[in-house]
Amino acid sequence: MKILVLGAGGREHTFAWKIAQSKKYTKLFVAPGNAGTAEIAENVAINVTDFKAIKDFVLKENIDMLVVGPEDPLVQGITDFFTEDPEISHVKVIGPSKRGALLEGSKERAKEFMAMHKIPTAAYESFTEESLETGKKFLETLKPPYVLKADGLAAGKGVLILNDLEKAKQELENMLADKKFGEASAKVVIEEFLDGIELSVFVLTDGKNYKILPTAKDYKRIGEGDTGLNTGGMGAISPVPFADAAFMQKIEERIVKPTVEGIKTEEIDYKGFIFIGLIKVDNEPYVIEYNVRMGDPETEVVLPRIQSDLVEMLEKTAEGNLDKISLEIDKRTATTVMLVSGGYPEAYEKGKEISGFDKIEDAVVFHAGTKNENGKVVTNGGRVIAVSAFGEDFKQALKKSYQNAGQLHFDKMYFRKDLGFDL
Ligand code: AMP
Ligand code: GLY
Repeated sequence: MKILVLGAGGREHTFAWKIAQSKKYTKLFVAPGNAGTAEIAENVAINVTDFKAIKDFVLKENIDMLVVGPEDPLVQGITDFFTEDPEISHVKVIGPSKRGALLEGSKERAKEFMAMHKIPTAAYESFTEESLETGKKFLETLKPPYVLKADGLAAGKGVLILNDLEKAKQELENMLADKKFGEASAKVVIEEFLDGIELSVFVLTDGKNYKILPTAKDYKRIGEGDTGLNTGGMGAISPVPFADAAFMQKIEERIVKPTVEGIKTEEIDYKGFIFIGLIKVDNEPYVIEYNVRMGDPETEVVLPRIQSDLVEMLEKTAEGNLDKISLEIDKRTATTVMLVSGGYPEAYEKGKEISGFDKIEDAVVFHAGTKNENGKVVTNGGRVIAVSAFGEDFKQALKKSYQNAGQLHFDKMYFRKDLGFDL
């Protein structure tokens, strides 16, 4: 099987690494990839949303399977682009149709889906520029903190949590009237604040059957003790220690089953991953958000724990036969520590040489923002490298992730040293 993975981050390097362990692949490409994927696959200089170029490449190389990493191409309809074109409709695409991707592409749609299928989530109302004044009055009826969410994709920046009512009203106006997040904030969902601890559950589905993959917790803030600006994720731990069997049972019955059942009854073409962001409040799970792809850096701890053949899992997903496989999971804990460029998530420099790869022991280095330049590996993004390791518990695993993180160097490298502080 010839496989093309779309994306360029730590998530895609991890997919490539796991696919490369399968007996079922013959050739692997990553578009556009990074310096890490170049070591195990062939990088192709194609943008993830350039559907025409992707089609041409798929035809030229006789690609059998397309694994879509990030949300953008899914929300823009890459799956439908393939299924509707007889020349490429035979390709197995891992990722939902445009209708499925709306679960991530529109917060309002996600809330309506949850309401329709009785999936526990925060109470909400949504507003547009026309209903701005009603929105402000609605805020007055709520208790702080106030949660404002841009309806559309806003590169992870579209959620504001504010303590002050006047500030919240002002931000609502900035989002709706001044288009703070462009078209993404033409509509805003205001929701009840849920106070609890977060975790993520990953599900692979063929639209009818599902497999629950390992849970993970990521650390989104740049600063230790969960302070400072939000990032794409500074590290992750899998499994989540507080997600015991009884709690997982609640998640499966109240959230995973009705979600997959909802996809089925609404006849949504969905063959791919569902990333369910959850919050545990008084021992009860609530959905914070759906993503229609794997998480990054969660993938860097979830996939290493899957012992089953990933290509076979994806093949069965595409064929609608996910019930025909059994999933083997490593019982150990996996952790990953993200090494980032100084300044991230604000302005940072690129092109810094990375050294120390030869000193890595008992850990796996997944590249995120890296590229090859004149025979050297240099930084090429805010999140640069994820260092994943295993242990009997998260403390042991983290110790190894940190030992190895300390072996790698680049100018102005930063990482959080307190992962797991809240567990
Ligand atoms: P999202 O982009 O929907 O994941 O939201 C970003 C972050 O905002 C989440 O990871 C939570 O930490 C926080 N958040 C979102 N919605 C709520 C809510 N209703 N209550 C409390 N925190 C929330
Ligand atoms: N780590 C969060 C995400 O992938 O959205």
